[in-house]
Amino acid sequence: MNSEEWVSALSRERVTIAPSLLASDFANLENEIRRLERADVKVLHIDVMDGLLVPNITIGPPVVAALRKKTSLKLDVHLMIVKPERYLEAFRRAGADSLSIHIEAVEEPTPVLRHIRELGAAPGLVLNYGTPVEKILPYAQEADILLTMSVPAGFGGQKFHADALDSVRALRRAAREDALIEIDGGIDVETIGAAAVAGVNLFVAGTGVFRADDYRAQIDALASTAYQALSGATGN
Ligand code: DX5
Ligand code: ZN
Repeated sequence: MNSEEWVSALSRERVTIAPSLLASDFANLENEIRRLERADVKVLHIDVMDGLLVPNITIGPPVVAALRKKTSLKLDVHLMIVKPERYLEAFRRAGADSLSIHIEAVEEPTPVLRHIRELGAAPGLVLNYGTPVEKILPYAQEADILLTMSVPAGFGGQKFHADALDSVRALRRAAREDALIEIDGGIDVETIGAAAVAGVNLFVAGTGVFRADDYRAQIDALASTAYQALSGATGN
């Protein structure tokens, strides 16, 4: 399946939960992945931070490559790094299925997004919390994934900012029909419904998944809350 195919297949599902590895037990990554696979997770969200674009340092290509050897889950790589164009090949070679770059990190996103597509990954464009949505709208059609941060990027466990949903609605209107509209930050059973109704179909959840003892029950609760909100909103 090429990147356009898996992206549009997921977008038709309307609700996909992508656990963010940042909140997992880094000393037991293989075990964490097995637990997520048993919970029928399809997408794993991986946060790459360089200490420059955001004030934290996390994962690089070697860890992505090690994960790739252990799982066939889609690896959704969120690049919170300056000059992301320097590392696209390395992360793609490591096994990233999607590569999302921050609008705040590039002068001109279009060539970077096109390069990601040429490498065979799904190109994603990210709007940090606090950046006006107008900055990203002109490029919306170039991206397979449009990711809105609902917290300032850099750390897990922060409080959800509901006004990020205004950006989600604007991006949903500007995006291609089969794009993934992703949200990241503070997603849990309290916040996921409003995000679904605003147009999100790919929900990153870090602490919202990993703080639970039973990942499957927690992921099912998140997904069913989102579906319920959607059916209420459409009257079905
Ligand atoms: C934060 C990261 C997130 C983080 C989300 O900058 O991009 O993916 O893991 O964590 P929660 O779901 O705990 O807000
Ligand atoms: Zn993220």
